[in-house]
Amino acid sequence: MSDFAESLNGKVAIVTGAGQGIGRRMAHGFAEAGAIPVIAEADAAKGRAVAAEIGGNRALFVETDVGDMASLAAMAEAVLERLGRIDVLVNNAAIFSTLEMRPFWQIPLEEWNRVLHVNATGPFLAARAVVPAMMQAKSGRIVNISSAAVPKGRPNYLHYIASKSALVGMTASMAHELGEYGSNVNAIMPGAIFTEVERKTISPEQKAAFMAGQSLKREGKPDDIVGAVLFLASDAARWVTGQCLVVDGGWVHR
Ligand SMILES: NC(=O)c1ccc[n+]([C@@H]2O[C@H](COP(=O)([O-])OP(=O)(O)OC[C@H]3O[C@@H](n4cnc5c(N)ncnc54)[C@H](O)[C@@H]3O)[C@@H](O)[C@H]2O)c1
Repeated sequence: MSDFAESLNGKVAIVTGAGQGIGRRMAHGFAEAGAIPVIAEADAAKGRAVAAEIGGNRALFVETDVGDMASLAAMAEAVLERLGRIDVLVNNAAIFSTLEMRPFWQIPLEEWNRVLHVNATGPFLAARAVVPAMMQAKSGRIVNISSAAVPKGRPNYLHYIASKSALVGMTASMAHELGEYGSNVNAIMPGAIFTEVERKTISPEQKAAFMAGQSLKREGKPDDIVGAVLFLASDAARWVTGQCLVVDGGWVHR
């Protein structure tokens, strides 16, 4: 379908937190579709490595802390200077794989604040940094990465759930505010995705229960998310805005 296949060619797509895991695969997916991914990652070694994997001038790494407004402003400026445009922002960076699972009454306030800051304030700040360029171009796509754990509920990381829930309301409201400027804002709610990164947010028993509870009985992989992100970033989704798409192998049915 030409809308889908061709519309990303030559576009500039910022993917925050693309140094590993799902974001890394998204960066590759954009490059494979002919777009130029910007790896806006706080871990410089990992971000640089992903840009090198993609190779040549087909990707740009910019060291970026999504919790820091000045860092995001510098990133947007660098992208415009080097690539001349910003077409897509994927708000993927989050404190996730490093989280400790614990009952909410044991979450230290400092940790609660840090997770909310990076995971919810971060996407707000990143969107602020790119909207001037999108408004000027009278187009643009923002894709927020929420979680299927929001509609389903999951114990032991309430700060994370709170942060991903915030993105649901932010997505609908940002879509209303940016519509008149020709920009679409949507969210993806991934189910359990097993990446190259070990994490403490799922035990072997929970992993088995996850797969048993899904309609599709296999492990979710980063590649299973990429198609939905590319679709929402493409012209094929031009009439889709303010939506949250669950991509989870059929874990949540609503
Ligand atoms: N893996 C899953 O099962 C799953 C399920 C639902 C939603 N998600 C969401 O998908 C996204 C990617 O998940 P993942 O499994 O690849 O996570 P991950 O923890 O492996 O990767 C997160 C990336 O974000 C980066 N990052 C963290 N803080 C940052 C900051 N302040 N500035 C810039 N970069 C920062 C990290 O360095 C890392 O590269 C996250 O938003 C996560 O919440 C993941």
